[in-house]
Amino acid sequence: MNMRYYPDPALRIKSSSIESIDKYIRRVIREMKDTMILEEGIGLAANQVGITKRIIIVDFLDKKEALINPRIIEHSAEKEKGMEGCLSFPGLQVNIERHKSLTISYINEDGMEETRELQGLNAIAIQHEIDHLNGKLIIDYMAPRERLEYNLRVNSKEL
Ligand code: CO
Repeated sequence: MNMRYYPDPALRIKSSSIESIDKYIRRVIREMKDTMILEEGIGLAANQVGITKRIIIVDFLDKKEALINPRIIEHSAEKEKGMEGCLSFPGLQVNIERHKSLTISYINEDGMEETRELQGLNAIAIQHEIDHLNGKLIIDYMAPRERLEYNLRVNSKEL
């Protein structure tokens, strides 16, 4: 499993929902967890390793869990800004405003539907990873001028 770095086209694809958790999906989940440990990330979306399906791995209380077809069903009006990095953008940090707390629903690794309330870092991580599943990236939150400069640097291979 190879990490995909910006501007890899897989990062811009809107990932498709998973209908059933078969052997292939279970293997993808295992390999994604290993990749996340290796890369020392706190979250990983499947399209970051080239698989355009709605799976994310997140670190909840030091336990790595796979969330399948995750969606936000409720969120606080209150937002908070914080710096975020991303494994697909080595060295880049972007200040992003996110909802402070969320209720999400998803299918767990055993195929059961679950609902969960999240706040703090967990809430931020989920919003970041669901963005990935929709092809949205941290540079999309940058001011147009900074984004342009970043893209010029990427294209001239300075990064
Ligand atoms: Co990311």
